[in-house]
Amino acid sequence: HAADAHRTDLMTITRFVLNEQSKHPESRGDFSILLSHIVLGCKQVLPNSLDLLEKPMFRQVVDESKSLIILSLGEEQKKLDVLSNDVFVKALVSSGRTCILVSEEDEEATFVEPSKRGRYCVVFDPLDGSSNIDCGVSIGTIFGIYMVKDSQEPTLDEVLQPGKNMLAAGYCMYGSSCTFVLTTGSGVNGFTLDPSLGEFILTHPDIKIPKKGKIYSVNEGNARNWDGPTAKYVEKCKFPTDGSSPKSLRYIGSMVADVHRTLLYGGVFLYPGDKKSPSGKLRVLYEVFPMSFLMEQAGGQAFTGKQRALDLVPQKIHERSPIFLGSYDDIEEIKALYAAEE
Ligand code: AHG
Ligand code: MN
Ligand code: MN
Ligand code: MN
Repeated sequence: HAADAHRTDLMTITRFVLNEQSKHPESRGDFSILLSHIVLGCKQVLPNSLDLLEKPMFRQVVDESKSLIILSLGEEQKKLDVLSNDVFVKALVSSGRTCILVSEEDEEATFVEPSKRGRYCVVFDPLDGSSNIDCGVSIGTIFGIYMVKDSQEPTLDEVLQPGKNMLAAGYCMYGSSCTFVLTTGSGVNGFTLDPSLGEFILTHPDIKIPKKGKIYSVNEGNARNWDGPTAKYVEKCKFPTDGSSPKSLRYIGSMVADVHRTLLYGGVFLYPGDKKSPSGKLRVLYEVFPMSFLMEQAGGQAFTGKQRALDLVPQKIHERSPIFLGSYDDIEEIKALYAAEE
């Protein structure tokens, strides 16, 4: 009966993507192979980050040179960024399906050696929210995938593409449960890791963000430096003039967690530019684009203060941009405030 069917007919992320794949027969399963390696990377990062929280002050990390490194928790924080980066670079290169990798943790892009080269470029933030590791708050991995145009001699132009050219994007959140959220351009689906199976199971099919929300998410500590429209919008959230009740402020400080809550509950997440940092803090390729792609696929919007976020054409791989993303109607209000300023 139903329960058994549920148990025996598991929709794993691998199966799900293979089903999707049948819609793109030309890709010969390469995308599924790439995705399975991204999933593998997440499964490897998870124990490191969660272990860290379980173990007391010290943790022994055996790195590939088999030398034992004893790290204090604080130092581990930096280390875990780098460790996670190593895990993902290795997983992606070993997939044999990538040709350029851009990571927040690597100053230069990685050009995969020809013998291992494939047709995908992956941009990723191996560990997002790393300042939150020590206090046990959710952290995550964010990624975006472009299809390479000229696989003969790939150049950086392959990844300096607008977000609208991404063919897939997603994140994995390492929190009370391990949740993988993915779009391949036809909606957004969420999967939860079943530790007993070591598989991600479809738990949030076809996620749609509420059209309007009751939550705003921003670091109010930067209020002194905000520009007019941002200040006006936040003021409206706190002191609505149309008789509606004030919105709630929720700010976790890990983009993955703040965006996941926004996707499920609705509302807006803002990392505006300000006088001190006109381009804001979040990176275009591996934070702004993937989250903007997900938001649009879930029926929401993503705006930079000047344009649709996915239309931005990055000039540098670690470029930053202000970002306002979330419920469709809420972002319309922000766009109107910026338009009035022009
Ligand atoms: P990362 O840990 O990958 O460097 O990203 C941190 C980012 C993002 O996760 C979060 O939204 C933002 O930093 C928070 O910045 P503030 O502490 O300035 O609010
Ligand atoms: Mn980040
Ligand atoms: Mn990071
Ligand atoms: Mn960082």
